[in-house]
Amino acid sequence: MEGENYTVTPWEVKGKVDYDKLIIQFGTQKVTEELKQKISRLVGGDLHVMLRRNVFFSHRDLDLVLKDYEEGRGFFLYTGRAPSLGMHIGHLIPFIFTKWLQEKFKVNLYIEITDDEKFMRNVDYTLDQTRQWAYENILDIIAVGFDPDRTFIFQDTEYIKNMYPIAVKVAKKLTFNEVKATFGLDTSSNIGIIFYPALQIAPTMFEKRRCLIPAGIDQDPYWRLQRDIAESLGYYKAAQIHSKFLPPLTGPEGKMSSSNPESAIYLTDDPKTVERKIMKYAFSGGQPTIELHRKYGGNPDIDVPFQWLYYFFEPDDNKIKEIEEEYRSGKMLTGELKQILIERLNEFLEKHRQNREEAKDKVRLFKYEGKLATEMWSKIHE
Ligand code: TYM
Repeated sequence: MEGENYTVTPWEVKGKVDYDKLIIQFGTQKVTEELKQKISRLVGGDLHVMLRRNVFFSHRDLDLVLKDYEEGRGFFLYTGRAPSLGMHIGHLIPFIFTKWLQEKFKVNLYIEITDDEKFMRNVDYTLDQTRQWAYENILDIIAVGFDPDRTFIFQDTEYIKNMYPIAVKVAKKLTFNEVKATFGLDTSSNIGIIFYPALQIAPTMFEKRRCLIPAGIDQDPYWRLQRDIAESLGYYKAAQIHSKFLPPLTGPEGKMSSSNPESAIYLTDDPKTVERKIMKYAFSGGQPTIELHRKYGGNPDIDVPFQWLYYFFEPDDNKIKEIEEEYRSGKMLTGELKQILIERLNEFLEKHRQNREEAKDKVRLFKYEGKLATEMWSKIHE
């Protein structure tokens, strides 16, 4: 989808995204205060920081999902990841929030790992590579802390037999024209990637309940296609809750992306690397000299370290307010703000590394042997 100065598609995010306009362009709904209050009532307590601060800002049918939950029909969660060499912290946004939803609503969660998509989209990658990355990325995902009884992590090239019947039913409903226009393909695209949308849509039909998909808004085109065809196959239109993009280190435009290593903090970056990258590359909203900064103050709205703290890394609302005020007034300097982020990031990454080590013993559980995984391997999706 093209805005005046930005682009948001499943394969590219460029420019300074206007999220209010995106809601209108994509035809989604805003996550309103009223909806947030309803969630707070249902979960009996505080909202996740990413909801409080509108990182998850847009939705489709979230109101219906909550109604289904209230009236006892329930719902399920679905999200996914196209494996790559090393996940960065932006990739964790939907997973961290999904974990919170699962914990609060106690629902099943399906996580699709698209080793096939990644292989077919990139001429340079071998299938062996994308499968190896799938294993590595699954460790990072398990480290987020999902419930092993209610979570099934599946890799397309492994689970294909069970999902193939529903995928072909989906595929038969989609024309090349629709897929081509939606995903920027043309007649020189390989035929695998033309079929692939059927495989990303199929898991929305793993249960005969409403499916809620937490994901970055770049994935939305898949769900629009799903919503056109779901009811004709006897399933619900998928509901979504969309997140904004964690901006790259280097500036408030676009999204953090693996293709530019300087613009990203990887989950494997050690404390020294984190410090060096933030100090050297993090785009600042501060003034060029200390004198000017003290006089005019910084601009947190475009300051990447502030934005990262705001998205997630400083969840305490009083503290973030204090940081914002001090930075805006010039009392807090850019270097001091960066230091706060470095500390928070390193605390987070250290915990993540520990969890990731422990995840190595849990891969079989999530993929094959846990309660939900066992059920899923004995099911053929029609
Ligand atoms: P992938 O691997 O590109 O991205 C995985 C998830 O991370 C989100 N994301 C971000 N969120 C916030 N800030 C960022 N900088 C950022 N970069 C990426 C993406 O929106 C996505 O939610 N085709 C999918 C894989 C997939 C999938 C799904 C994703 C299969 N089934 C169901 C979501 C839901 C892909 O390439 O994701």
